Amino acid sequence: MRTMISLIKKDRNRRKNLILSAVLLSLFFLPGCDAIKISEVYEKGAVASASPIATEIGLNVLKSGGNAVDAAVAVGFALAVVHPEAGNIGGGGFALVRAGQEPEIRALDFREKAPAAATEQMYLDDSGAVIDQMSTVGANSAGVPGTVAGLYALWQEYGSIEWDALVAPAAELADSGFIVDDYFHQSLSRYRERLNQFEETSRLFFPNGSTPLVGEKFVQSDLAGTLYLVASEGRDGFYTGSNAKLIIAAMERHGGLIDSSDLAGYSTTWRSPVHFEFDGLDIYSMPPPSSGGIVMGQILKLLEPSDFSASSFGSAEFIHLFAEACRVAYADRAEHLGDPDFYNIPDNLLDETYLTHRRGLIDHEYAVSSETIKAGSIGGAESTETTHYSVVDENGNMASITYTINSSYGSKLVVDGGGYLLNNEMDDFSAKPGVPNLYGLVGSETNKIEPGKRMLSSMAPTLVLKNDEPYLTFGSKGGSQIISALAAVLLGLERFGLDPHEALATGRFHHQWLPDQLLLEEGAFDITVVQDLIRRGHDLVQEDVYSEIHLIRIKDGTMLPVCDPRSRGNGDGGF
Ligand code: DON
Repeated sequence: MRTMISLIKKDRNRRKNLILSAVLLSLFFLPGCDAIKISEVYEKGAVASASPIATEIGLNVLKSGGNAVDAAVAVGFALAVVHPEAGNIGGGGFALVRAGQEPEIRALDFREKAPAAATEQMYLDDSGAVIDQMSTVGANSAGVPGTVAGLYALWQEYGSIEWDALVAPAAELADSGFIVDDYFHQSLSRYRERLNQFEETSRLFFPNGSTPLVGEKFVQSDLAGTLYLVASEGRDGFYTGSNAKLIIAAMERHGGLIDSSDLAGYSTTWRSPVHFEFDGLDIYSMPPPSSGGIVMGQILKLLEPSDFSASSFGSAEFIHLFAEACRVAYADRAEHLGDPDFYNIPDNLLDETYLTHRRGLIDHEYAVSSETIKAGSIGGAESTETTHYSVVDENGNMASITYTINSSYGSKLVVDGGGYLLNNEMDDFSAKPGVPNLYGLVGSETNKIEPGKRMLSSMAPTLVLKNDEPYLTFGSKGGSQIISALAAVLLGLERFGLDPHEALATGRFHHQWLPDQLLLEEGAFDITVVQDLIRRGHDLVQEDVYSEIHLIRIKDGTMLPVCDPRSRGNGDGGF
């Protein structure tokens, strides 16, 4: 039995304390305890996002008569200002929306695309080896951004108030500045060296050469200018004209591939969501080019027949079985999933006949070995950022949006004069079959780089209905960990009867087939659980997890927004 427990210490004390207090709170549920905020319930509208300021902007839109989609558009732009390590206009993402007179659930794909000049070999040297950092840093790592087109498409389809009224609050916030909090200060301090490698990025984040201090105002004039342009000209304000020129200038200066026709030709796509039933719930999530919906569906369906009544959520029995289901599901991710516009995705991945066969691969007692291709590592030096947010209104409209620039601060390259970061989403392609990306994920031909193609994602904004009525909207950040975290939280809520706060606060666990390691959230599990998992043959890694889930649960006519206690905090609100 190979056993490795690696204890990787990072500057995580603040987060660990938060998690520990949250777990304690979830055990004792002390009313009035201020370790984490226990959310209130609301009747007219609710928002859960990574930032209290962005949530407030979304709530203002709802209060002024906008619907959940209007508010989601406004929150998306606001996060680009106050949460620039992940919130963005230089990245892309996915939205699951339930809206309209006879509400239907649709998925919007505004994922970045590879530029037309991209090639399968673009990150390989002459010997065929992957060139270090080429797919993760700088102009060459950026896909054609989709966020502005995505938010615009959402508004065109479902918006009920003027477009500029949804963009203006973010533009004004960038213009007047927001007060730096501890989270942002720490984040900039941690990334200072990496952000300073580009002069334009350094100028934006470290005005006068110093890290903005807690309590200071952080003003982003160039970003304000871009947002005012988008407010007045819609998506064209970003993809054509002066802003397009700024992106192309950045590409020319730093050797990137995006050109004016990539920008002008960028398109979003409405897709049918992945739909499956679990314990009588109707679950709708993101289809390819995200793996999120299918892999989450597989994990839950593989486990659906299991009886967990004799085990608890954090027990070794449950974690083991969950990890084995993940192993089987993530193996399919690597082999079968990619951009459906370029590759025919098998249509039986959630069929019961297929799942019955796959369920047979799971050993209830011991870890099955994943075939070793090349082990990547879960996590590593680079922490990652993405952000998920959810909005619900009193008419049953729901918006669940996850968007990203991939790792924290994306490519680290700010578009000079535009005031925003470009993504490094190209790293989500498989640069070479079998070679792991930032998240340790390996891929095959299905996810190879091709011009105009979308890179495979794990993002999984999700909506859940119970008896055809809104029940839950949730999603997460965390790269490959998004899917397992969402599946586990859903099981926690539905099978183990956890309260939403408790379900989010409890320690996380993750397996993704390769590397063949079981990740346990550091400090969250008892030694007896750890020992039992080792006995079962798992290679354990204990470290911080990347996932951060923001959800809204709708029950008995009330909405309960809950933010992950690992996050910046208190981005839940309503009225
Ligand atoms: O699309 C994906 O799966 C990744 N680019 C998401 C990255 C992410 O969630 C980073 N957040 N922690």
